[in-house]
Amino acid sequence: MNNGNDTVLQVEDLRTHFFTRTGVVKAVDGVSFELKAGETLGIVGESGSGKSMTALSIMRLVPEPGGRIVGGRIMFDGQDLVEMNGSDMSDIRGRDICMILQDPMTSLNPVLSIGDQLTETYRTDASGPARAVWQRAVELLQMVRIPAPEIRMRAFPHQMSGGMRQRVVGAIAISRSPKVLIADEPTTSLDATIQLQYLRLLKDIQAETGAAIIFITHDFGIVARMCDRVAVMYAGKIVEIADVEDLFFRPQHPYTQALLGSVPDLEEDVEWLTSIHGQPPQLDQMPIGCSFQPRCEYAFEKCEEEYPPEYLVGNKHIARCWRLDDDHRTS
Ligand SMILES: Nc1ncnc2c1ncn2[C@@H]1O[C@H](COP(=O)(O)OP(=O)(O)O)[C@@H](O)[C@H]1O
Ligand code: SF4
Ligand SMILES: [Mg+2]
Repeated sequence: MNNGNDTVLQVEDLRTHFFTRTGVVKAVDGVSFELKAGETLGIVGESGSGKSMTALSIMRLVPEPGGRIVGGRIMFDGQDLVEMNGSDMSDIRGRDICMILQDPMTSLNPVLSIGDQLTETYRTDASGPARAVWQRAVELLQMVRIPAPEIRMRAFPHQMSGGMRQRVVGAIAISRSPKVLIADEPTTSLDATIQLQYLRLLKDIQAETGAAIIFITHDFGIVARMCDRVAVMYAGKIVEIADVEDLFFRPQHPYTQALLGSVPDLEEDVEWLTSIHGQPPQLDQMPIGCSFQPRCEYAFEKCEEEYPPEYLVGNKHIARCWRLDDDHRTS
């Protein structure tokens, strides 16, 4: 790969801003992380913390006008996606980097049969005789656990259940062998069964293709089940990133600690953020210093003066909090 190891995606100091009448909203404000082949990275954080905009920046689908990537690099396969022209980017999007939406209706064409949509990729690639292409599509449906796939090939999206449509989208994704899958969970929770099916589908796609997954969620229980690493976002920045176990058992940032403290049981799905007092800051009116300071029970003078740098607090475990500074620890 691009830098001689198994890194598939490297995001460096990404900045995505919205230019509004009331000011500049720093939706993504210096985000860096890397993604290894086959790895699942969770991104968690309160609503409005910049998770979706991080994902949409990687897809180069930041809402315009108003939104724009203003800085940083997104290295994929030796190329910087931030600098890439629109047509090269649209080749990458949907082939190498796919977003799997939970609401699959918008990703399917309502007037084409499932079979036609699944074989489309191959027909444009002109690979092999029609019979083989059809057979491959049936196999793809089997891989995502669709019963009676031969019959389903002739069905249209509106004739299928939501869960079934989701799996069709998954089958299409497998056919493209993506390197990176991005899954952005909607904040309104779906039916629990559909949600479980969705998680299983993502893992099925990963098992078939070896894709790395970026999984955006507000639910730590899901992170525990799905992810290898996890990044915690607050007000446009990653405040802590670590391997999942490390983060759960040795959280270093007060925000992460508060989040985890409010999860009674990791096996249980809970809306965890409601129990942290206070509100996240307005992103166009950020406090000087640490953005968590108004809500932080450990805040001290330094926190009001300057944003904390990154501290390496363990193996590949990084957190941004002044309490981790040697000067503070020894004082
Ligand atoms: N179209 C927009 N115009 C202006 N600001 C926006 C727009 N979309 C998102 N934002 C800002 O970007 C921030 C991050 O949004 P988002 O990435 O969607 O958050 P999350 O996915 O973590 O809930 C929001 O807090 C909001 O202030
Ligand atoms: S830097 Fe200060 S305010 Fe920010 S999280 Fe750490 S202790 Fe709290
Ligand atoms: Mg979002």
